[in-house]
Amino acid sequence: MRNFSFHNPTMVQFGKGSISKLTKMLSPKDKILMLYGGGSIKQNGVYQQVLDATADLDIVEFGGIEANPEYSTLMRAVELAREEKISFILAVGGGSVIDGSKFVAAAIPFEGDAWNILNGSTVKTAVPLGCILTLPATGSETNTAAVVNRSEQKLKKAFASPKVQPQFAILDPEVTYSLPTRQLINGVIDPFVHVIEQYLTYPIGASVQDRFAESILINLIEIGKDAIADVDYDKRANLMWNATQALNGLIGAGVPQDWSTHMIGHELTAAYGLDHAATLAIVLPRLMDAKRKNKHAKLLQYAERVWNIDTSDESAAIDQVISKTEDFFRDLGMRTKLSEYDIGEEAADVVKQGLITNGYLKLGEHQDITPDDAARIITASV
Ligand code: NZQ
Ligand code: ZN
Repeated sequence: MRNFSFHNPTMVQFGKGSISKLTKMLSPKDKILMLYGGGSIKQNGVYQQVLDATADLDIVEFGGIEANPEYSTLMRAVELAREEKISFILAVGGGSVIDGSKFVAAAIPFEGDAWNILNGSTVKTAVPLGCILTLPATGSETNTAAVVNRSEQKLKKAFASPKVQPQFAILDPEVTYSLPTRQLINGVIDPFVHVIEQYLTYPIGASVQDRFAESILINLIEIGKDAIADVDYDKRANLMWNATQALNGLIGAGVPQDWSTHMIGHELTAAYGLDHAATLAIVLPRLMDAKRKNKHAKLLQYAERVWNIDTSDESAAIDQVISKTEDFFRDLGMRTKLSEYDIGEEAADVVKQGLITNGYLKLGEHQDITPDDAARIITASV
């Protein structure tokens, strides 16, 4: 196992009615900016719960953060926050609103062009933030990462900083009852692939991380379909906690990580507007096949421990586990081929150019996946 530092300072308030705990998580001394998305919170009662819990607080609102949050929208929130001298940010939404809020938090005190935050400039300071999660999927609620879209330039870029990790995250599984099926499917697949990207690399003797990763994968396989179909508290609670655990730093500590499926997938979102998880379901099966040599040992471990596949014929077992993974996505109701979105082979060059523009020239745990390799993976995904 490699050396690591692990510190996850986000206070999680989990369970029914936990939005009411917001009152004690916020300070009357702060001027608060509440950020939210396209309005789902006004239909499902979350907005009213937030208003009830913050009635005595000084709070300014900014709505309209898009799915795949747009840089231009976020910069308008930054302007408002500077004018209003905001000292705390409350994000209410899914990964896009939380990511967008993280960017706003870092951009408010940032000197110079805030886009540089996405180009690797160090975030020295940020306005503190907390969040209410409405869509279990990304893990953004208890991690340091954020992804921002700049659609006029067809860019989607990520940054990470401990300065933007939420101080608290409120997770009430009942808020998922209003989620459309499509978003629930995303909510199973995104955390599944988060675990895969931290697990399916090469063995490093990290048995806690491996076993914990495998248990999240098995859980998602076991509960995924029912958690999508049923408006059931326990199923949604388990889905929510799985999604948080998949990307809170724990299973990724001290182990090699991949993230190439994500980086290639981000290019598909930037170019074609596909949902984040939809891109992962397209890329991952082909990437597993393309990297079956490098990932050989872990693919066999994954086959045996997660899918109970007989691995005596190693090559056949790897074929089978790749098919099982794709079938799992399809069985949840997700498409796994670009042609199913009317996207053809031209996407290969689009993705390749996007990776080059963003400077993502060497991806994967061995830094050996080039934009040309990504193009081949995309061609195989049509
Ligand atoms: O905008 P509103 O009205 O809130 O509607 C949203 C949006 O249309 C809706 N929704 C959310 N909660 C709802 C709800 N509808 C009904 N009831 C509810 N309770 O769902 C739609 C999608 O929301 P979005 O936040 O975009 O989805 P998700 O949570 O999947 O976030 C995706 C974004 O997160 C990034 C992705 O790249 C993408 O930009 N990621 C962030 C990561 C991180 N910070 O660690 C890691 C991930 O790998 C990912 O890259
Ligand atoms: Zn993801």
